[in-house]
Amino acid sequence: MEENTTVVQPLPGVKGFVSRRHKMLIGGEFVEAASGKTFPTYNPATGEVLAQVPEGDKEDIDRAVKAARGAFEGRWRKYTPSDRGKSIWKLADLLEQHADEFAQIESLDNGKPVAVARVADVPLAIDLLRYMAGWATKIEGNTIPLSVPGGGYLAYTLREPVGVAGQIIPWNFPLLMAAWKLGPALAAGCAVVLKVAEQTPLSALRLAELIQEAGFPAGAVNIVTGFGETAGAALAAHPAVDKVAFTGSTEVGRLIVHAAAGNLKKVSLELGGKSPNVVFKDADLDVAIPGAANAIFFNHGQCCCAGSRLYVEKGVFDKVVEGVADQGRQIKLGPGMDLSTQMGPLVSSEQLDRVCGYLQSGRQEGARAIIGGQRVGERGYFVAPTVLTDVKPDMKIYQEEIFGPVVTAIPFSDPGEVQAAANDTIYGLAAGIWTRDIGKAHSLAEQLRAGTVWINCYNVFDAALPFGGYKQSGWGREMGHEVLENYTETKSVCVRIK
Ligand code: NAI
Ligand code: MG
Repeated sequence: MEENTTVVQPLPGVKGFVSRRHKMLIGGEFVEAASGKTFPTYNPATGEVLAQVPEGDKEDIDRAVKAARGAFEGRWRKYTPSDRGKSIWKLADLLEQHADEFAQIESLDNGKPVAVARVADVPLAIDLLRYMAGWATKIEGNTIPLSVPGGGYLAYTLREPVGVAGQIIPWNFPLLMAAWKLGPALAAGCAVVLKVAEQTPLSALRLAELIQEAGFPAGAVNIVTGFGETAGAALAAHPAVDKVAFTGSTEVGRLIVHAAAGNLKKVSLELGGKSPNVVFKDADLDVAIPGAANAIFFNHGQCCCAGSRLYVEKGVFDKVVEGVADQGRQIKLGPGMDLSTQMGPLVSSEQLDRVCGYLQSGRQEGARAIIGGQRVGERGYFVAPTVLTDVKPDMKIYQEEIFGPVVTAIPFSDPGEVQAAANDTIYGLAAGIWTRDIGKAHSLAEQLRAGTVWINCYNVFDAALPFGGYKQSGWGREMGHEVLENYTETKSVCVRIK
């Protein structure tokens, strides 16, 4: 048999890590689930079991919350802002030292190409941690001039950590989502219980080891593996948790809000999307076409901000749609550990079924697949890059988040029409605009009800740039200094001085 030289072998450290008996980080120690139960995580390229991890549930969440509370009221609270910043920066350094290893773990557990994880997921996580490390010493209150008749008061605000933060993350960017959540919470001085996605627990468990090495006190960060309905729900409802931050489906976001109502914990949500990507005929199509393809096919379409509704101005519709289809045709599908792979499998058999269900519904409702439209192969969870036309606004594939490499292409005639169509969704996470007319670009950017608008680009992320949703795409923002609002309380102090 011809040897495939582009397949990378797992580094010795990765082999050793993946096959080890996995434990969760609670109270500064690596522990099994209280029940002793474990569950499998799979390699989505093959469907084979990769590792067994602890099945944390209510009891483990309770242990982790107690540990976090202890740290918050104890050693972690005594860390100076500078100490917190240094610990977060140290974690970033450690992650950087192990970047290749993390890229491989991510690829094995999630399915994404190792080459992509190495240049996107891992460096973005490192950068986010460093950005947030810098904020630890810059979270400041104000002095407030009062207008009380007669005067004689000094008033100021303090910004204090909200307390114990429960954080629940999905599987599409496992390490990066962990960094997005941990970085700002720790910078603000919160103690954390992080519940990772059951599909992709491994990179966070390896991160837990680096967290120990970075010098955080016991209980400041607790990492629990387990299912959403048990561990996740227990965390969202826990009376000793002050704040819950969630990234995932809009459906579960709603459950989180209900669960959080018991003790009225603060809630931030980063939920689904059905983002419009608008190509005008005056755009530089040499840039817009690959840009529109990247907007949907990046991470196999498993992005909350995927440009899944492609609106193209009449006159260039066929050219753009055929161009995007051509980009899709050239994408090489394969296992993530093959360096020549450009698109890996979907994360799980559930997601494969979900995406294939949408493809079937699209066919039944009369949409036409220019490319793709089906699963690829029998082994692993691969779906072909898909471009659908003849799409009507009442179709499920037009309204609902598919979360796969599937774009619906729709023609439009004028800016007013496309603005209305683009906003005709329950979501409001992101949008793209492609045009050379700066007036048109900024005017549409202002009209779109979306948390991020990319003009002549897409999927550009930066730790300094806030990200989050309008409408049912969420509450609050992640990244930038805005995320610190999620993890701080403002205390007003008023002193009579005369
Ligand atoms: P999900 O929303 O069920 O899972 C996300 C996280 O929430 C996981 O850690 C899960 O364990 C946890 N969770 C699930 N049920 C919970 C509950 N009742 N209480 C507390 N935590 C709970 O998403 P799922 O099932 O993995 O994917 C379904 C769809 O959600 C996808 O097809 C996609 O449309 C959307 N999604 C959106 C993401 C985003 O980045 N906005 C990420 C992942 C999925
Ligand atoms: Mg779910």
